[in-house]
Amino acid sequence: MCGIIGVCSVDRNVAPMISLGLRRLEYRGYDSVGVAIIDERNVQVWKAKGDVDSFLSRFKIDSIAGKTGLGHTRWATHGPPSDVNAHPHMDCRGKIAVVHNGVLRNFVTLRSILELRGHSIVSDTDTELIAHLIEDETQFSSSFFEAFARAVSRLEGSYAIAVVNEEEPHRIYFARMKSPLVIGVGGGFNAVASDIPAIVEYTRRIIVLNDGELGWITPGEVRVFRLTDEGLVEVDREELLSRIFFIEWSVEAASKHGYPYFMMKEIVEQPDSVRSTYEGNVSDPVLKAIASLLATSDNIIVTGAGTSYHAGLVFTYYLANIAGRHSIPLIASEYKILERAVSKRDVVVAISQSGETFDTLEAVRAFKGKGARVVGVTNVVGSALSREADITVYMRAGPEIGVAATKTFTSQIMLLTLISIYTAREAGLLGDSEVEAEIASLAEAPDIVRESIERSIEVINDRELGEHRSAYILGRGLGAHIAKEAALKIKEIAYVHAESYPAGESKHGPIALIDKEFPVYFAATRDSPEITGNIMEMAARGARVVVVKPEDYKLPVGVKEAKIVEMPPTKKDIKLDPYALTPYFQILAYKEAVARGYNPDKPRNLAKTVTVE
Ligand code: F6R
Repeated sequence: MCGIIGVCSVDRNVAPMISLGLRRLEYRGYDSVGVAIIDERNVQVWKAKGDVDSFLSRFKIDSIAGKTGLGHTRWATHGPPSDVNAHPHMDCRGKIAVVHNGVLRNFVTLRSILELRGHSIVSDTDTELIAHLIEDETQFSSSFFEAFARAVSRLEGSYAIAVVNEEEPHRIYFARMKSPLVIGVGGGFNAVASDIPAIVEYTRRIIVLNDGELGWITPGEVRVFRLTDEGLVEVDREELLSRIFFIEWSVEAASKHGYPYFMMKEIVEQPDSVRSTYEGNVSDPVLKAIASLLATSDNIIVTGAGTSYHAGLVFTYYLANIAGRHSIPLIASEYKILERAVSKRDVVVAISQSGETFDTLEAVRAFKGKGARVVGVTNVVGSALSREADITVYMRAGPEIGVAATKTFTSQIMLLTLISIYTAREAGLLGDSEVEAEIASLAEAPDIVRESIERSIEVINDRELGEHRSAYILGRGLGAHIAKEAALKIKEIAYVHAESYPAGESKHGPIALIDKEFPVYFAATRDSPEITGNIMEMAARGARVVVVKPEDYKLPVGVKEAKIVEMPPTKKDIKLDPYALTPYFQILAYKEAVARGYNPDKPRNLAKTVTVE
């Protein structure tokens, strides 16, 4: 969740590079910020609770001299946001500075051991222990790297770490276990970072580190080792060179392009991102391989977290309704409830925009341990999911910076719908010409999404939800899944308690909450005309009812008390309904957040990529 950057340069002061990197990383976590810079003599640390911009101007970071440095944006796990808990953390002598993303499971044990050995720990964090542990190990080691490796081998849990040591002012040490970390290979400098956007302005040559790897960079050298039972084994130069890949997307793709917030930029980008997902995958043979796995497996488990889980729900719907295949949706953090029931004849489809979500990766590892085959669906090339899955498909949606997932949701749906159609062919439900027709109809999605965005911007009020602190977002069939995602968006950025459940459930309890003007939104998809009854029930109790539906889908009976919002027609094709309805709710959440004075790119307590348990 935290963001890390470290740069060492042969001739440039690195503070401005680190500042820019911190701005690019802020979406990962933003409760506190810190920087460590080594000039030729000593390591100095600046850190504070608060956001990146205030921090950079308060300490005039850009003007600090020094050719090696670290930066960190924090998303609190151990200890509340505060100056003292901000990273970098130092050892007792103030010579070693550490930044870290992850959670150490053996935090309590390590802390008591270190305290018994006389270390005075000043913060509540697990990260500070790493600095003290390295300091402690230097007494038993012949080099700093040996001490670093010994310390790393004592860590349990997840970590991406970058470390500087005052005695080696041109070197950054790093280690990775279950938290993302990449190396940027530059000209006259090298860098480490938790995310590619932090360094892509400076280099497009990236090495993705694997779990269990550690090493160091200097301005002219990258050395990577694996921690094995037999000790440290160096990754040879040829292998390392072959792991360098080039980032194709541009810096502009990760900047705001004149929009006030990334979230709006990414909502508006959906016609392009959906098209890119469609065109980039439609003829990819990997989809056929996945389809044949799905058509022949015993069980299909579809897993992910948050928005990715909601895309997974849509997938289970299409798998059943297009391909006739039953699948089990599973929130990734709940993987244990199915772990014992999974076998090698099963397939797990793991969906994750970032490919780094801890819960999803844990589920993948557990199911792989049972012999299941894993299909990874991700947006990030080289992500942990892409490396752990047996087969990976990419969303090709471009970088998503806004914390709230928007364009990646519609791209996930596009990709998963393509997979459902190919699975139908493999399962013998659709012939070649029918598959062709189904695929061709999806080509309408970018235009539908564009029109839906335009109409939504026009019809949604800034304070659509008024002073209400709660709302229901309901649907049936496919609409129930779209409604779930809608409610998540409204909760996470507008801080309105939006609850979602299948509309038919209202009469079994939730309708008790309805009083005059209680906002109830319906995502009405064409598969569920029965929703009309639920709309009437709500309207009859005085709720403020809004029905969002494709224009060419007529409700069986009119409900005069309900406001009907017409979204673009979807050619009577249920596969196109998500593109007509989803932008409405994204824009509602966005407008509501901005009008209430919240920054939709930085929702409180959230981070873009959740790399902790
Ligand atoms: C919601 C949101 C989160 C993520 C979730 C999974 O807007 O962004 O709910 O969807 O944390 O993230 P990924 O898809 O990266 O695994």
